[in-house]
Amino acid sequence: MAQVGIFYGSTEGNTERVVAKIQDAFGGEDVAALHNVNSATSDEMAEYPFLILACPTWEIGELQEDWDSFIDQIEEVDYHGKKVTYLGLGDADGYPDTFLDAMGIIHERIVNSGAEFVGAWPTDGYDFEDSKGIVDGKFLGLGIDEDNHPELTDERVDKWVAQLKGEFGI
Ligand SMILES: Cc1cc2nc3c(=O)[nH]c(=O)nc-3n(C[C@H](O)[C@H](O)[C@H](O)COP(=O)(O)O)c2cc1C
Repeated sequence: MAQVGIFYGSTEGNTERVVAKIQDAFGGEDVAALHNVNSATSDEMAEYPFLILACPTWEIGELQEDWDSFIDQIEEVDYHGKKVTYLGLGDADGYPDTFLDAMGIIHERIVNSGAEFVGAWPTDGYDFEDSKGIVDGKFLGLGIDEDNHPELTDERVDKWVAQLKGEFGI
């Protein structure tokens, strides 16, 4: 069974495309499995030692709608022994004050859960004003901006997945 569970929501398809790239970079479905949160369960999350929680920010600093319905369930998982990180999609030019807020909104629910958080990502190269997705000067996970910088996505994904392979130890 895949060791990495990628749980994502996507209204317009950007996040769905990026998680497919992440799955490929890990080596395919034998290593990383995709679960759309519109039909996922907390029992499915519990099966993976490594979790990537992937959410675009919508409605000016809010969770994507399927994540909004799913979010309570993530508190039912026992995170002890698990490593968790985030993927955030956003639009830094259009929403500079709430850029990638969803990562922080999800993190707030499980920050004291016993999970080990990995995958922190530098904010260098992103032009925005404020984000709830930052802790200790870094994004909680990978930030992707398909609206303004789609040309940077592949390189960012490859670099981040290489970092995660080391942090997950796989
Ligand atoms: C109405 C609307 C509100 C948005 N609000 C935010 C926001 O507050 N912060 C942000 O970083 N991006 C925001 N975005 C940008 C989306 O997160 C971005 O387009 C993302 O790639 C969409 O992902 P999806 O196609 O997987 O749904 C917003 C986009 C729209 C259309």
